[in-house]
Amino acid sequence: MKFSKKQSDILNEIIISRRDIRGNNFTNKKIKRKKLNQILQAGLNAPSVGFSQPWKFIVIEDEAIKNRVYDNFKEEYKSSKKHFKNIPIYETLKLEGIKEAPVNIAVYYKKSKKKILGQTSQKLMGRYSVVCAIQNMWLMARSLNIGIGWVSILKPKKINKILAISKEYELVGYLCVGYPKEFFDTPELETLQWDKKQKFDSVVFWV
Ligand SMILES: Cc1cc2nc3c(=O)[nH]c(=O)nc-3n(C[C@H](O)[C@H](O)[C@H](O)COP(=O)(O)O)c2cc1C
Repeated sequence: MKFSKKQSDILNEIIISRRDIRGNNFTNKKIKRKKLNQILQAGLNAPSVGFSQPWKFIVIEDEAIKNRVYDNFKEEYKSSKKHFKNIPIYETLKLEGIKEAPVNIAVYYKKSKKKILGQTSQKLMGRYSVVCAIQNMWLMARSLNIGIGWVSILKPKKINKILAISKEYELVGYLCVGYPKEFFDTPELETLQWDKKQKFDSVVFWV
């Protein structure tokens, strides 16, 4: 199958207009199961080292579980503050949407008992494959006008305990999923002057 210029422009637009969505921007509009499945299916279509497909997805809708995850976020957030003591804006940032998003998805890496083709020199390749799945989900969600926010201020061990998941499963991404009030044109952290977008020539090198 060959794609047209119009289609590739659309993909580019989806990539450019994908945003990390946080609790100050989620609505409580329910996501239809069909759309949620489409997002999850996009994850399953990601590339993976040696076609190992080392991902598992836990879809969380239960408010009590979300509350427990949020409690862990609060704990971790509190201890993160010491790293940004000299940057007062840190305390004003909203860095998650665990309770506001109607759905949370914990995305896990499960190590295989078999030797994985391509993973013999670099042990992290399986985890990177799971990240590819997450990015596919993020983009598919955006194409459906659904937002995703990645929350990393969490202790994986505690999240496994809350979800009653054994330690062979390694948390890669904890995602908050829901319809946002709006998709901003610019990353929030750029708008808030936390950091600037890097210029093409400052990160791309030709040799
Ligand atoms: C691996 C990863 C972890 C992230 N963790 C958090 C997080 O804990 N809290 C948060 O608010 N945003 C988190 N983000 C979102 C980034 O802040 C966001 O992607 C970045 O500011 C650029 O904004 P944009 O995604 O809207 O383009 C994470 C993103 C990635 C890729």
